[in-house]
Amino acid sequence: MKPSSRKGPARVVFDKVTKRYGTNVVAVDQISLDFPAGTLVTLLGPSGCGKTTTLRMIAGLEMASSGRILIGDDDVTRLPATARDVSMVFQSYALFPHMSVLQNVSYGLQVSGFSKDVVASKANDVLKQLGLEVLGARYPNELSGGQQQRVAVARAIVLEPRVLLFDEPLSNLDAKLRRYVRQEIRDLQQSLGLTVVYVTHDQEEALAVSDTVVVMNNATIAQMGSPRELHDRPHTRFVADFIGGANVLPCEVASVQGEQATVRLGGLTLTTNNCAGTATQRHVAVRPNRVSLLPAGSPHALEATIQKATYVGEQMEYMVQTPLGELFVTSPDTDRPVAAGASVALAFVEEDVVLLSD
Ligand SMILES: Nc1ncnc2c1ncn2[C@@H]1O[C@H](COP(=O)(O)OP(=O)(O)O)[C@@H](O)[C@H]1O
Ligand SMILES: [Mg+2]
Repeated sequence: MKPSSRKGPARVVFDKVTKRYGTNVVAVDQISLDFPAGTLVTLLGPSGCGKTTTLRMIAGLEMASSGRILIGDDDVTRLPATARDVSMVFQSYALFPHMSVLQNVSYGLQVSGFSKDVVASKANDVLKQLGLEVLGARYPNELSGGQQQRVAVARAIVLEPRVLLFDEPLSNLDAKLRRYVRQEIRDLQQSLGLTVVYVTHDQEEALAVSDTVVVMNNATIAQMGSPRELHDRPHTRFVADFIGGANVLPCEVASVQGEQATVRLGGLTLTTNNCAGTATQRHVAVRPNRVSLLPAGSPHALEATIQKATYVGEQMEYMVQTPLGELFVTSPDTDRPVAAGASVALAFVEEDVVLLSD
């Protein structure tokens, strides 16, 4: 890695990239992506769906079995990790235990052949940027989890990578610190204009930090879009369930009129968005906080029975049985909870009912 070859944050392109392990495992299956420079993209999905493999192929720690990978305008498909100007922050931070914070942050620069003065000035700048300057002389075992995480980030960004990669960086932190550190990573990415690819299996974390979320399932891309698009307009049952735990109910598509569709949901007829997908028997997604509980017998509503009512502080949570299946419903009305066993009616606002493709 020659210092003169650095060119600033870069876009990342995958063109039909596949990764096989041996003959039986297809970890990543023909994925195509185009991440603009200066954005934070998360790879989100359940364990084993191919997130880490995708990240490691960007880093050059795994080689693609087929397809092309570009960083900026450079085809890096066959380049080794050391020639890619990419840094990775690991789950375990992988700090050198026998080196101080300053030495940890300086190490990569020294190996890259920078002069002593340049190493010192760059390392100190980055420590300052991350609020670590007072910790420069400490050793990793004298730091909290959050501080270790910050040192790991400092060690990565001091190399001015064209792409910065994070693989589940918060999994060793407690819940409160996780919120704080994820925001810190996001602020840093935005203030420095870094290209970041970030792996997580936590949908809330992904929605909180990302410009773009790529939802992966079974080695392929299930859906990609802004956090709001994925949350408000999931395309499939998998995405609807994975992002925000929407209720997924069977419906019949009665007719399609351009951008809109008319669907039958139990005895209800609703106008919804149209969506790719041609089958008549499909599903809709409805978020738990978008279902209204009305008195039994109310018109334009589904008959239902409350199975379980739970008070959780800010809201009530209900498990509700309907002819279409079980629904999870939340209500801010904690003063007048509905008791388990009660008959009710469920009503939906049409805009909140999302027709899925499957
Ligand atoms: N070195 C490897 N050899 C064989 N199979 C692997 C290897 N690394 C990952 N896999 C398999 O590839 C799939 C994707 O793994 P991975 O990318 O680690 O998923 P994720 O990070 O989403 O949990 C899994 O089925 C996993 O078992
Ligand atoms: Mg992983």
